[in-house]
Amino acid sequence: MDGTALNVNADATPNNLEPYWMPFTWNRQFKKDPMLVTSAKGMHYTSADGREILDGTAGLWCCNAGHGREKIVEAVQQVVSHLDYAPSFQVSHPLPFELASRIRSMLPGDYEHVFFCNSGSEAVDSALKIALAYHRVRGDAARTRLIGRERGYHGTGFGGISVGGIVKNRMFFGPLMNGVDHLPHTHNLEHNAFTRGQPQWGAHLADELERIVQLHDASTIAAVIVEPVAGSTGVLIPPQDYLKRLREICDRHGILLIFDEVITGFGRLGKPFATEYFGVKPDIITCAKGLTNGVIPMGGVICRKGIYDAFMDWADESGNTIELFHGYTYSGHPVAAAAGLATLDVYNEEGLFERANELAPYWEEAVHSLKGTRHVIDLRNLGLISGIELEPRPGAPGARGYEAFKRCFEKGLLIRVTGDIIALSPPLIVDKPQIDQMYTTLREVLENLD
Ligand SMILES: Cc1ncc(COP(=O)(O)O)c(C=O)c1O
Repeated sequence: MDGTALNVNADATPNNLEPYWMPFTWNRQFKKDPMLVTSAKGMHYTSADGREILDGTAGLWCCNAGHGREKIVEAVQQVVSHLDYAPSFQVSHPLPFELASRIRSMLPGDYEHVFFCNSGSEAVDSALKIALAYHRVRGDAARTRLIGRERGYHGTGFGGISVGGIVKNRMFFGPLMNGVDHLPHTHNLEHNAFTRGQPQWGAHLADELERIVQLHDASTIAAVIVEPVAGSTGVLIPPQDYLKRLREICDRHGILLIFDEVITGFGRLGKPFATEYFGVKPDIITCAKGLTNGVIPMGGVICRKGIYDAFMDWADESGNTIELFHGYTYSGHPVAAAAGLATLDVYNEEGLFERANELAPYWEEAVHSLKGTRHVIDLRNLGLISGIELEPRPGAPGARGYEAFKRCFEKGLLIRVTGDIIALSPPLIVDKPQIDQMYTTLREVLENLD
């Protein structure tokens, strides 16, 4: 372990692990047999027992430029000693203005304004509030319904879990928000198993939005929110033309379309954002994760000009009014904004989005080389994302996936599992031998798993 690594070894005993209540974790399993990492560089973590772990998941879909990037580290160090904090209400500092301008220049069209927050969940809740308030300031206050999608993941705020569609994330938390409806999800093994890229079957599922509109009447619907590629539910790739049809239906009925790009933003599909990859323009885009390469928490809500203008037009002409009654103590935090600026520099200087685009065909071949491997019932891919769906063990959903996860970690590969679906999303600096290593390790693990 080098001198800068965390010294956790001496304390890594079950008793000392108890106080921390880990998020989305099998806490009791973890604390019996912890998987701890203590440092990270490039494509690798180092485990507490000193092993190199190849990062197949960019941390949690966030370290797109890989780990320990000097430029980002230096930017953070510099700003924290220079301007540790500045208030975000009525006072600010230059960095978030610069960052918003840079984000704006990454998107084609009129995505002219960025609202900053601290996570993907906050970005989603902020976007939903902006959508509701947008209709209200335009005098269309009856538009209060929000439409999400089954199996959608939009973080863990009350807004996000209300429009989200992952049962366990919702069922414990009461009635959630009123006036929410859900589109059907697009996952269908019968029609789409082992599709490379976007499935041909399933565009018609977007037409369900028309049915929902007929049910509630368009005049009551504020916005539809979807992930362009659903990640956390187990990598669901949108069928061809599906997103385009959603856009058309929203346009027809004056409904805002929100793309939750928390995982697809910043190069995951080989373009800055998925909106460009799919050629479909939502009204609002949420982002986080890759915005700062995961180094400092930060999220953003990117809005088209007309959205922001509606708030400015509505507010008192004198300008002596808050136009949007929403914000966070840490919106546009100096350290996060500095990390964001340095991160965008790294992406740009190293051409990492183009790199992801160039690697995507190799990635696709590697993913589909697992066809025929034990337990594998589907393989899906887009950009530098893959989903590997395993047959669940009878009566024990998730058990096989979890065991695969543990065994991969033992063999030096970090993967992510949702139930029995493995998701891979490596840093965009990954090279071909590392891609081979990921799928070779997976094959070995799966072939030897009950
Ligand atoms: C699409 C999407 N939205 C929102 C979130 C929530 O982000 P955070 O965990 O930063 O709150 C995630 C996290 O994985 C996500 O994938």
